[in-house]
Amino acid sequence: MSTRVNNDRSAEFSLSEKEFSFICKLVYERTGIVLDERKREMVYRRLMRRTRDLKLASFKAYCQLLQQNNEGELTSFINAITTNLTSFFREMHHFEHLTEQFLPEHIQHYAHTRKLRVWSAACSTGEEPYSLAITLLQSMPALINNWNVKILATDLDTDVLATAQRGVYQAESIKALPESVRKKWFLRGDEVNAGNIKVVQKLADLITFMPLNLLENWPMRGPFDVIMCRNVLIYFDRPTQAKLIQRFYQMLRPGGILMLGHSESLPKDNTVFDMLGRTIFAKKSSPDLHTVEAL
Ligand SMILES: C[S@@+](CC[C@H](N)C(=O)[O-])C[C@H]1O[C@@H](n2cnc3c(N)ncnc32)[C@H](O)[C@@H]1O
Repeated sequence: MSTRVNNDRSAEFSLSEKEFSFICKLVYERTGIVLDERKREMVYRRLMRRTRDLKLASFKAYCQLLQQNNEGELTSFINAITTNLTSFFREMHHFEHLTEQFLPEHIQHYAHTRKLRVWSAACSTGEEPYSLAITLLQSMPALINNWNVKILATDLDTDVLATAQRGVYQAESIKALPESVRKKWFLRGDEVNAGNIKVVQKLADLITFMPLNLLENWPMRGPFDVIMCRNVLIYFDRPTQAKLIQRFYQMLRPGGILMLGHSESLPKDNTVFDMLGRTIFAKKSSPDLHTVEAL
C-alpha cells in the first residue's frame, strides 16, 4: 500500500511500504517512538513538508538522504516526527500536589541542605518547566533566596528546546490562567510583539534547558527530588517504558516523586514505588533489590 494525498500540490509524493518501514525503523532506533499503520498519515504529512523544504522530488530521495547518515538532516527528521503538544499547568493536579503536599514536607525535611532538584524530562516547548518554576516560586517565595533550587528541562527535539529557551508564547496560551498568575509571571509584548507574552526572567533563572535523548546516557548524577516525565512513555513500547522507569527510580532520592502523564502507568508488578495520587509515585525508601532489578 502507498499513501498519496489527492490534491494537486502533493500528487507527486507517494510513500511506499518500503519507505514507510524504513522510516518507522529509523525513528524507533533513534528515539524509541513506535510508529505503526495508524500513524502513516501523520508521518506522511510531517515528512512531506520536510521533503518539500529540501526541494527533493520524492520520499525515495528523502530516504536516500537519511540513509547517508547526514546528522544535520537526521536531527531535522526527528524534530519533524515528534509530537510536542503541551500547555501551561497541564494536568493541574500534579502542581496542586506539589504545592499542597510535596513542597511543604520537603521544605521541612530538607531545611538542613536547603536543596531542591526537579527534572522535567521531555519538556517540549517549555510550558511544563515554567509551570514548575511558578509553582516553586509561589510555594516558597521567602525561602527561595536561601535555597539552592534548580529545574532541569530536557527534550530530544532541538526546535522545541529553542522555543522553550526563548520563553515567548502567544498570549492565548495563558488565557485560562488566573489573572494574578498572568500579571506576575508574564510580560505582555507590544508593537511587533503584540499578541505575545514572555516569561519573566525570575522563572528562566531557575531552569537549565538541555538537549537529551531519554534512550541515551544521562550526563547528570542526580539525585532528583521530583521527576516529571509526562505524555512521553505512551510513544514507547513496554520494554523501553520499563527500562526508563527503572532509570528514573535510580535518579530519584528515596521519597522523591515521579509524575507520569494521564494515560501512563508503572509496570503492573511494580513494588518499588508507592502510589500517592493519580499518576504520582514516590520512590520507596528500602525496596526489595531483586524487584528493582526485575523492573
Ligand atoms: C507530547 S510532548 C509532552 C510534553 C510535556 N511533558 C507535557 O506533558 O505537556 C512529548 C515530548 O517528548 C519528546 N520526546 C519523544 N521521544 C523522546 C526521547 N527519546 N527523548 C527525549 N524526549 C523525547 C518529544 O520531543 C516531545 O517534546
